[in-house]
Amino acid sequence: MKNYTIVTMPGDGIGKIVLKEAVRVLEKAGLKADFVYGDIGWEFWCKEGNPLPERTIKLIEKYKLGLFGAITSKPKKAAEEELDPQLKGKGYVYFSPIVSMRQMFELDLCVRPSRSFEGNPLNFVKRNPDGTVIEPSIDAVIFRQGTEGSYAGVEWTNPPDEVINVFKTHKKFKSFEKVKKEDIAISTRIVTREATRRVIKEAFEYAKKFGYKSVTVAEKPNVLRETSGMFEEEAKNISKDYREIALWSVNIDAIMMWLTKNPEDYGVFVCENLFGDILSDGFAGLVGGLGFACSGNIGKEYAVFEPTHGSAPKYEKLNPSIVNPIAMILSSAMLCDHIGEIEIANKIKNAIKEVVKEGKVRTYDMLRLPGGPNAIEQGAASTQEMTDAILEKL
Ligand code: NAI
Ligand code: MG
Repeated sequence: MKNYTIVTMPGDGIGKIVLKEAVRVLEKAGLKADFVYGDIGWEFWCKEGNPLPERTIKLIEKYKLGLFGAITSKPKKAAEEELDPQLKGKGYVYFSPIVSMRQMFELDLCVRPSRSFEGNPLNFVKRNPDGTVIEPSIDAVIFRQGTEGSYAGVEWTNPPDEVINVFKTHKKFKSFEKVKKEDIAISTRIVTREATRRVIKEAFEYAKKFGYKSVTVAEKPNVLRETSGMFEEEAKNISKDYREIALWSVNIDAIMMWLTKNPEDYGVFVCENLFGDILSDGFAGLVGGLGFACSGNIGKEYAVFEPTHGSAPKYEKLNPSIVNPIAMILSSAMLCDHIGEIEIANKIKNAIKEVVKEGKVRTYDMLRLPGGPNAIEQGAASTQEMTDAILEKL
């Protein structure tokens, strides 16, 4: 009898490659789980006009726990062009299945840890005044609100009259009134108090549980007075219950600068959806890039874990595959933490730590090689070899 059932959604491109590797690691690490496969991604958009088919939604509803690889997304017009001819012109509109999944299953906490592994040649370094180089250890965890803000999807090009009329009630809209409607595109940034409170509270709880000294709100309340303003206000309120943790509020643009200077000073972050997306990529770049960037989308009832990278289609067909499976494997370790399998999660993280520290097996990205079929002969490990090295440590 298996303890868990995990819906595996490989998706497109390298999602298909790395998810397989993560399952190998979970099994070897001793997770007692069944894996059921779910369709998701571009293929199903083209064939069915729906990148997140109902049957996959049903699986997540049933099992509540998912591992997701990556999908290919294309802009509106390009998406329409690739639709099966029989479906064209029937009103199908492409949407990002992961963004939809977050909204549909209320996966409102998007948690993205960025931790440096000792020995990773891609780690951030800086130079002392005397020329010596230091490599600070980075341990930042970004709590990104996952369901609302700029990614809520409330947007229009050529907005309907009733929308324009509402905007006209705002005095700042005056300067846009002379622009033709078809030349206006509007994306909203909707932030609600309850969701804001929840993500901030979870960020503080996490900081408390794991001994972080600070929670930083990365917003822009001096300009985005309403939405960022609400974030800052609620953070101040909630921080009163966590006297031992410092609350810092630093503008998102300033943070993007500070993280290139002293990323080691920061601990937990909390911000809106789009800002969190940007901030987490920024931090990912300091600890190895997309090959190391893991994430969890966590709601009260459901959770889906995924690497933050995309489908990297140009590497999909390489045989052997060269992409780094660590981001996906770390994401599956996050899944283990989430379900309380802490020991298994630690085993996986320690195995990765050892492999990286040893430095004998490195994928092309870790060697700073151009990606492509020649990477292997230049000394890069294949995707499978990297996984094998991790399995060996387990
Ligand atoms: P990407 O993340 O797929 O790839 C960008 C580059 O990062 C790659 O060319 C490669 O050099 C590197 N990279 C990514 N994953 C890697 C790994 N595991 N190991 C080593 N190197 C890795 O982003 P890109 O090229 O902008 O988008 C490709 C497609 O993926 C697009 O259709 C995009 O919409 C989609 N996408 C999907 C995401 C998701 O499923 N959550 C997230 C980001 C992009
Ligand atoms: Mg991103």
